[in-house]
Amino acid sequence: MKGKPHLMIKSKRNFPDFKYFYSIIEWKLPAISPRKRATSKAQTVADMASAAKKRVPKVVFDYVEGSALDEIGSARSAAAYSRVQFNSKIMRDVTTVDSSETIFGKKVDLPIIFAPTGYTRLMHHVGESAVAAVAANNNLIYTLSTMGTTSPAELAAAVPHVHRWFQLYVMQNREDSLAIIKQARENNFQVLVLTVDTPVSGLRLRDFRNGLTIPPRIRLTTVFSIARKPIWWLNLFTTKKLEFAAFRGWDKSLVELAATIFSPNITFTDVEWLRKEWEGQIIVKGVQSVADAIELTKLGVDGIVLSNHGGRQLDRGPVPLEILPEVVKAVGKKVDVFIDGSIMSGQDAYAAIALGAKAVLVGRAYLYGVMADGERGVEKVIEILRRDFVNTMALTGNRTLKEVRESGAVIRSMVEK
Ligand SMILES: Cc1cc2nc3c(=O)[nH]c(=O)nc-3n(C[C@H](O)[C@H](O)[C@H](O)COP(=O)(O)O)c2cc1C
Repeated sequence: MKGKPHLMIKSKRNFPDFKYFYSIIEWKLPAISPRKRATSKAQTVADMASAAKKRVPKVVFDYVEGSALDEIGSARSAAAYSRVQFNSKIMRDVTTVDSSETIFGKKVDLPIIFAPTGYTRLMHHVGESAVAAVAANNNLIYTLSTMGTTSPAELAAAVPHVHRWFQLYVMQNREDSLAIIKQARENNFQVLVLTVDTPVSGLRLRDFRNGLTIPPRIRLTTVFSIARKPIWWLNLFTTKKLEFAAFRGWDKSLVELAATIFSPNITFTDVEWLRKEWEGQIIVKGVQSVADAIELTKLGVDGIVLSNHGGRQLDRGPVPLEILPEVVKAVGKKVDVFIDGSIMSGQDAYAAIALGAKAVLVGRAYLYGVMADGERGVEKVIEILRRDFVNTMALTGNRTLKEVRESGAVIRSMVEK
């Protein structure tokens, strides 16, 4: 504009203040190990997954990440979580946010449970005990799988203070299951998690293509794999052999065992049978309908897990999150309703709690951590989940999980991209 003086602001310069300069220097050197560096830089579980991919052979990574057939089930679950919109309240005093939950009489710091996963020592040589140690350090629940590579006794000895649940497959010979249950009882596992979505094994095409075998076999391609991931192979060869540890000493090969662990003739009467054999709580994992949830509630179970096994069994079943509100409405007053599948962030966990779940189970999220960097990697995954979960509680104006559930969430329309 004409007539106005042209203003130019200049900064006044001083002699450099070296004391101040020195005070703002961060003297901590970046981690030299690429493994540690990747862990400390990770901001999401996806970052940990990228790091994991670099550390283990493809066959191992694919075994963890893969699902059945077209892998649509797990993708739909992930998409459902991203469609959730939180209800939020403003101007609540969120100076103190309490993310703890009491599950079967035990108070835990987060409503996040370590799901049972078989063969964990394939992902990292310390395996189940490393994961359980993180559960203990963070006051969380760890679930040991029937197909664990660490036995119930070994786990209890390695991490005596962890809240521990045991996952059971009803084996073809029911007496065999009793021998496994006995180990869980003798080693103070509090809850039995009965997995029922595996009458037969899911068809995991990545594993077929990669020629996955347990234990890993040496072929020509293995030699290339060793060259690319020498540390993983070194750990495999220099630590205890990989086995289904709960069956140690049984006169059966791994292949024979794998064939008898899944039982195609499992029915609701097995739940009644188990009720008589196990004094503690029973949770049935793999529920995919309201009708089955009601049936199990009538049989006196203490909880159910809405789950499609992370999409690793039936591919195109219902999306657990989408049936959660209806299931909670039908049975939530009588039993605890848990959920799992594709929970990769604290926001995902928050979504499930807001839609009525008692707690969530996570599988792959912690397996990415253990593959990337062992116990430190799992610790980082929990740090990320906790940070995002607590932050979301504060930003939605909720101080307790009860308030989170009351405030609720909506799953946005299916048609949007
Ligand atoms: C590598 C792997 C192994 C698993 N092994 C078992 C198992 O032995 N028993 C079981 O009940 N579920 C098993 N599951 C399923 C998990 O308990 C859980 O239902 C699933 O991982 C949840 O989905 P998410 O991985 O997307 O969190 C396994 C899952 C993965 C990824």
